[in-house]
Amino acid sequence: MVARIPASRLVREIGGPLRDGAGAGAEQGDPGERLPAYRRLAEAIRSAVVDGRIPTGATLPSERSLTEVLDVSRTTVTRAYAVLVADDWAISRRGSGTVLKLPGRRPEPSGPLVPTEPSVGGSAGAPTPGDLTCAASDAPPGFAAALEAATRSLPGHLRGIGYHPLGLPELRSAIADRYRARGLPTDAENILVTPGALAAINVVARTYLDPGDRVVVESPGYPNSMAAVTASGARPIALGLGAGRWDVEELAATVRRSAPAFALLMPDFQNPTGALLGADDRRAVAEVLRAARVPAVIDETMAELVLDDIDQPPPFARFDPHTVTVGSTSKTFWGGLRVGWIRAPRSEIDRLARSMSTLFLSASLLDQLIATHLLGEIDTILPDRRRSYRSARDRLVAAVGEHLPQWRRTVPPGGLSLWCRLPEPIAPLVVAAAQARGVLIVAGHQFGVGGGLAHHVRLTYGGRADTLDAVVARVAAGYREVLDRGWVPPATLGAGAGLIA
Ligand SMILES: Cc1ncc(COP(=O)(O)O)c(C=O)c1O
Repeated sequence: MVARIPASRLVREIGGPLRDGAGAGAEQGDPGERLPAYRRLAEAIRSAVVDGRIPTGATLPSERSLTEVLDVSRTTVTRAYAVLVADDWAISRRGSGTVLKLPGRRPEPSGPLVPTEPSVGGSAGAPTPGDLTCAASDAPPGFAAALEAATRSLPGHLRGIGYHPLGLPELRSAIADRYRARGLPTDAENILVTPGALAAINVVARTYLDPGDRVVVESPGYPNSMAAVTASGARPIALGLGAGRWDVEELAATVRRSAPAFALLMPDFQNPTGALLGADDRRAVAEVLRAARVPAVIDETMAELVLDDIDQPPPFARFDPHTVTVGSTSKTFWGGLRVGWIRAPRSEIDRLARSMSTLFLSASLLDQLIATHLLGEIDTILPDRRRSYRSARDRLVAAVGEHLPQWRRTVPPGGLSLWCRLPEPIAPLVVAAAQARGVLIVAGHQFGVGGGLAHHVRLTYGGRADTLDAVVARVAAGYREVLDRGWVPPATLGAGAGLIA
């Protein structure tokens, strides 16, 4: 099923009614007013797709409704749609309307986002200064002590078989304690331990999805979760996060149109935007989903990384007791520790565990012991971690401000990434130019449902902070080179970059 965009929303997204100089071309400084009206309309729609304001796969409003809302002639709309089809930005389907796409191939899901590997013989995972592809960090100072404590307690477990299909009991309790400390009553029986959050999302997907189902996801969002949805035969439906904000009305409309199996959201320092959903909006989102009987699946992988002195709302599940929440030690402590979990109503835990058992019999026992000790020390470890991330974030924001003043960015109140908006839709070209200078960053289309988002790149600040200024200076040099040599919007935005190397 393809969602149809209401005419009023389309007009909002293309920047208002089709007056001279409005909409198309305005952003790139084209002499838009010299183009005929149908060309300007087509261009405005194309720009909105490139920018991710309108998702690919969406059906354009009927010609009649758009004609009325725009107050133009029917011929203008008909010809604009025809231009989009002729230029390969849409396909016309008899009986179901004009569906937006990216030129070239059919829209493909974004490729997985995979950490780069150090070369064989290289240093064992030391952060590479120019690699900003991964929202991740090295292990915290308390890690060695937790490893020692885990090693000391390991012999006590060696007489057992080592498998804990639901998770090590003391770890399940420690995770439940942490939820209670964050304001969400939770028992160990609500927790299923998994080998990381991505494993948890895959377990949730295979438990609740059937081929052909739909899942509402944020766009931009976390590509590996979208891939998990697609791998289950379901289809991600984009909920646009314009300017890093959730639009509750838009969510209601999207849910109504697509009747999803669940909505997968990241209210706490959303990856990639770093946005935080406020308490009132959490309540409103929970209400929309409850009214539509759509379960919420909440990815809280970044939730502990609050960087500013703000009131972080309680976990989303406080607003909807049926919520299934996914968490992880990867960002709070270390990605090398393969421990995550699912927090769900007790009645769901057995079902989830059964579904997990054909994938993983258990998470690593040693990792679970380490995670238990780290959670016991979280009040000592986290403040330092947050301080160092805050200072890295501030350095990155300052470096972008200095070297790339044209780029717009909203300072994220938490998480590990900075989402930047370029004035031109050239993110993949800038990524390539930066790579030629030894800097790896990720272009926006990797985070979009079906691509798009060509105005955006994601930078991260979990790695070495002392080199960030020099790294951003190189990105800026790449950006200037792209502008200087002249550019055309790349046509491969939907293809996804596959492995990020
Ligand atoms: C939002 C989000 N969810 C899930 C994951 C996967 O986490 P894990 O390492 O626990 O599998 C990541 C990792 O970057 C993430 O950013």
